[in-house]
Parts: sequence; C-alpha cells; structure tokens
Amino acid sequence: MSDPRWEARADLVVVGTGVAGLTAALTAGSLGLRVLVVTKGGPGDGNTRHAQGGVAVVLPAAHEPGDTVQRHARDTHAAGAGLCEADAVERIVTYGPDVVERLRRTGARFDTGEDGVLARTREGGHSTFRILRAGGDATGAEVERALLAAARDRRVAMLTGHTALDVLRTPEKEVAGLAVLDETAVPGLISAPAVLVATGGLGQLYRATSNAEGATGDGLALALRAGAGLSDLEFVQFHPTVLFTGPGARGRRPLVTEAVRGEGGVLVDVRGERVMTGVHPLADLAPRDVVSAAITRRMAATEADHVLLDATHLGPEAFRRRFPTVHAMCAAEGIDAAREPIPVAPAAHFACGGVLATVEGRTEVRGLYAAGEVARTGLHGANRLASNSLLEGLVVGERVARAVADDLRDRAPAAPDAACWPDRPVTAAVVERDVVQREMSRHVGIGRSADGLAEAAATLTAGSRPRPLDSARAVEDAALTMTASALLAAGAERRETRGCHVRTDFPDTDDIAWCRSTTVRLDEATGQPAVHRPVPLRGAA
Ligand code: SIN
Repeated sequence: MSDPRWEARADLVVVGTGVAGLTAALTAGSLGLRVLVVTKGGPGDGNTRHAQGGVAVVLPAAHEPGDTVQRHARDTHAAGAGLCEADAVERIVTYGPDVVERLRRTGARFDTGEDGVLARTREGGHSTFRILRAGGDATGAEVERALLAAARDRRVAMLTGHTALDVLRTPEKEVAGLAVLDETAVPGLISAPAVLVATGGLGQLYRATSNAEGATGDGLALALRAGAGLSDLEFVQFHPTVLFTGPGARGRRPLVTEAVRGEGGVLVDVRGERVMTGVHPLADLAPRDVVSAAITRRMAATEADHVLLDATHLGPEAFRRRFPTVHAMCAAEGIDAAREPIPVAPAAHFACGGVLATVEGRTEVRGLYAAGEVARTGLHGANRLASNSLLEGLVVGERVARAVADDLRDRAPAAPDAACWPDRPVTAAVVERDVVQREMSRHVGIGRSADGLAEAAATLTAGSRPRPLDSARAVEDAALTMTASALLAAGAERRETRGCHVRTDFPDTDDIAWCRSTTVRLDEATGQPAVHRPVPLRGAA
C-alpha cells in the first residue's frame, strides 16, 4: 500500500450510515467522543432506507391487548429455530421501548390511527400486531431521515465517498485506526483506538436481492482480516416476496413488504392455488424461512419462476394509502398492485449471522466493534424475525457507543506507527463478481447440498486471482470473494436443515449435533476462511 496522503484522528471511526452507525455516532457524540463517520457512498446509501415493514417493539402505552416483551421474545426464538441466544434476545427486546422513545424524540414520526395511538401492523412470525410503521411502508426511510437530520444538526463529521480498506492494528493486535481510499483511490489514514463496522449486509453475493448496491459484505471482510470471527453466516434470509420482473432480473429488486400479508394478502401459485395452506399454523404469516422454502417448492412443482401475492381484497384506495412505496414500485414495472395479484419470488434479503459481537457491539478484537446487520449478536439465530433488525440497530447502536466510551477510559489511544501501516495487504484474492453471484445463486440459495457447495467452492478457487486493492470496486470484489468463501465453509459444515439453511442432502433438523453456532475465522496458514470453535467474548453475559 502506498503511504497515506492524509491523516486524521478520532476517538471512534464509524463505518456505515445505516440505523446502527448513525445511532452510534449520535450517541458517541453526546458522550463527548470525537466521532468520524466513513461511508463509501453518500449518507444513507445503505439498506436502512429500503426497510419497509417497521420496528418490532412492545411499547408500554401502545400495544395489543395481551402483548408483552416476553411474547415478543418467544416469537423471536420461534423464528430463530433454536439458535437465538436467550440473553441477547431478552436484552434487545427489553431495551426496545426506550430506544424507540428516544428515536421519536430525535424526530422520527411513526404512523398513528384515527385515535392518535401509534398504528401497529403484523408480519411473518409475529403472533400479534406489534410493528410500528412510518409513511405506510417507508419506515426505514423515515428512521434514516430523522437520524441524518440529527447528525446534520449536531455536526457529526462525515467522510462520504471513502471506502474502508483495512483496520490497522498495533503489534499487540489492538485497533489503531482505519485505512481508507477516496473515490480517486487516494489513500488516507484515520488514527483511532476504536473502529465500529456498521456496514450492513451481503445481499450482492446473489444475482437478485432486496439489498442496496453497496451491500457487498465489506464489514465482514474487514473484520475477518482484523482477526474477528464470523458466526451463523450460513443463515442468509431470503425474503419471500420480492417483486418478480422477469427471469433475467439482476441486482437490487423492489421489496413487497410482508405487511401486505399482515393486512390479509395471500400467496397463490400460477394455477391460483394457495401456497401456505397446510404448511404452517400461521399460514401466510409463518416465519420467513418457512414461507420462502414453501414458495421455492411450489415454484418447482408448477415449473414457474414466481408465485403471486394477492392483496386485491383491500380495495384500490386502501392499498394505495397503506402501501404507497409498493404501489409506486409495482407501477414502475407496469403492475397495478391495488387491482391485480403481484408476481413475486424469494430473493436474498438479510444476513442473520455476521461478526461475532455482544449486545454492546464488542468483538473478539480489542478496539473493533460491530453493530447492525453486519454483526451477529445472537438475536436472530437461524432466521430473523421480521422487523427485528431496525430494533437491533437502534439498541446495539446506542449501547456500542457507551461501550466504546467505557473501554476508552481504560485504554490509552495508540497511534498507528510505521510498523503497522506498511504491512497491510496490498492485494487480495478476487473472483469476478458475476462468477461469485452465479455460483452463490445456483448453489447457496434455498436448497444446498455438499456437492453444490463443493462445486461452488472449486469454481471460486479456480477463478481467484490476486488483485491490488486500489479502487472501491476492487475492495468490494475482494469482500464479496472472501464473504462467499466464508459462507461456503459455514454452509458445508452445517450438515442439517435449520431456519434459512436448507440442505437437500440433510433435510432434517439435528438438535443433538447442531443446536449450536458455527464460527469462521481466517486460517493463519492458508489465509482462507475456515470453521473454528467460538471463544467467549469480553463483556458477554
Ligand atoms: C418487510 O417489510 O417485509 C421487510 C422488513 C424486514 O426485513 O424486517
């Protein structure tokens, strides 16, 4: 790596401008920390703005009769198929009401009913109506608007158009800063004792995804290279209802929120038969993994590449009012969602696993923190409960800022010195993005087998070339390659079907051998991701 052309200094560098990153930056600023937010795009280019459904939370003054945080926790565990961590679930759902109240005080406006009480909707896996929404089906956009406005008001320093290249560490392996590249590939160095990765997900590993273009697994690769472990990576959630616009559709596809089914919409196949009847007691509102797998089976049985989501019972006026985003996105594809069934198919949506982290965002590496979709706190297990992700981003975003402030009190900031800067890798193994997306879509979607996983791994190995990390695109491609290898290792290891991980060669859930998480780290000898036993995290309860 050529020497940095500029240097800056902060107490905390936050990589990413989604709900977790912005919440952390605002909280850290209020605690007196010098914060610098780094994002490869513009502010708010991540997945947060695309979240339609809402925030799952049980507010003391606005909940359905009989709903409780314990019931929310039970639904979370049921969706997570045995792999949620009880402590993480309990703490995140319990902290939820406070963080949502603070978000409202920050300026976020949630929808209310005619009685002025907060409106609540329902999505897959929820046993009752407990999801707050904004703008009908534009909750993420409203949350992001409020957080960005607060960040502007409070003058949070933000470096847009800068790609995080590598976490720099001292010879003692503690975080010392972050190397970045600007849009013209000029390298820069930010000295900081704390780096928070809040970079979002990995949907761009697949040909079709609901995720933003920048969801290329960057934070997972950064954390792996810095020495952190990734857990539960094999559990990639496929959203059941992503708008189907033809077999050749690639890249980010419009989401059709689960709340459409929450308001009574039903899935039918191309012959007009219900998809979810007899599959699960919650039928169309079964947890997402169950619905996506059922749709995949029905598409195979009917030799069709999509099914249909029929919400015409709402009537045109009500549909347009309740789901303006879905209505507009469908209209852009020539579909009148208010009057005709919507063609949909499952697509990659959410990484249930990620950087092994506590609810306070601490990872295995001193000074490295993770929050939001990139982190694996134990909340989601093998399948995330709908609308738990904005909640997790808000809770962990706030708590990680407090954890950084606490940790920095015991630790003198270490500036990166000549010993740690030049040793950084200048090249990484990179496979063409099209090849990665083709192999992942073919072999690592809903329905995986040892043969398919091995074939994908062999193709990636054969197609891998060393490439200098001298542009944002190269950094993304290297991240996609490394994340794909890590996911393949985790997927091959788990020889059972559980949650989002559907093995055609091991169709049963094996609670004796596999009711535990897998963790992937970089193998020191090969430099490749490999499965390891997890180690206890500092500060984990
Ligand atoms: C949706 O609205 O269906 C997506 C929300 C989520 O992923 O939690």
